[in-house]
Amino acid sequence: MKTLLVYYSYTGNTKIIVDMIKDKIDCDVLELKPKTPFLIDDYQEIVDEYQSNESTKKCVEIEAINVDLNDYDKIIIGTSVWWYTITPVVREFLKKNDLSKKKVYAFATNAGWLGRTFKEIESYCKLENTLNIQFTEDWREHTYLTSDEEISKWIEEIK
Ligand SMILES: Cc1cc2nc3c(=O)[nH]c(=O)nc-3n(C[C@H](O)[C@H](O)[C@H](O)COP(=O)(O)O)c2cc1C
Repeated sequence: MKTLLVYYSYTGNTKIIVDMIKDKIDCDVLELKPKTPFLIDDYQEIVDEYQSNESTKKCVEIEAINVDLNDYDKIIIGTSVWWYTITPVVREFLKKNDLSKKKVYAFATNAGWLGRTFKEIESYCKLENTLNIQFTEDWREHTYLTSDEEISKWIEEIK
């Protein structure tokens, strides 16, 4: 079974978890990149702009992906939560790629309000297993509150 870990990380929190998974699971990693990058200096503008993310389900264009999904049976999706659901970057990936024949796992980083993040992913593909990882509200701290034990246990489960 070949595994692909697909993620988008705006401020770097999701990337922290990606690195933990990468250390323990033999997988290829695909970072999704919006064609027009979300700049960290625009944090508050982006928070304001995406307030209706849950209802509008807006997508953004992303860079062409440089892997052949046919090579993988197992996909791990990593997203942060933008206004109670997935980021527009991850949504674009899920809309454009059929994962129905794959075993799909997902984790989400957030500041405590997961909302319907996993439910939206499940509207695109079936999920085998999920993990919610809470970070502190101030993204600059890059500090997760979910225990290392819980994260490690999940990684073991999805191996
Ligand atoms: C536009 C925007 C909307 C957000 N909405 C939520 C939210 O609805 N619930 C929540 O718990 N955190 C929310 N956050 C916080 C992020 O989900 C959290 O900081 C996450 O760990 C960031 O991951 P990243 O650095 O990989 O992008 C939001 C952040 C941004 C930028």
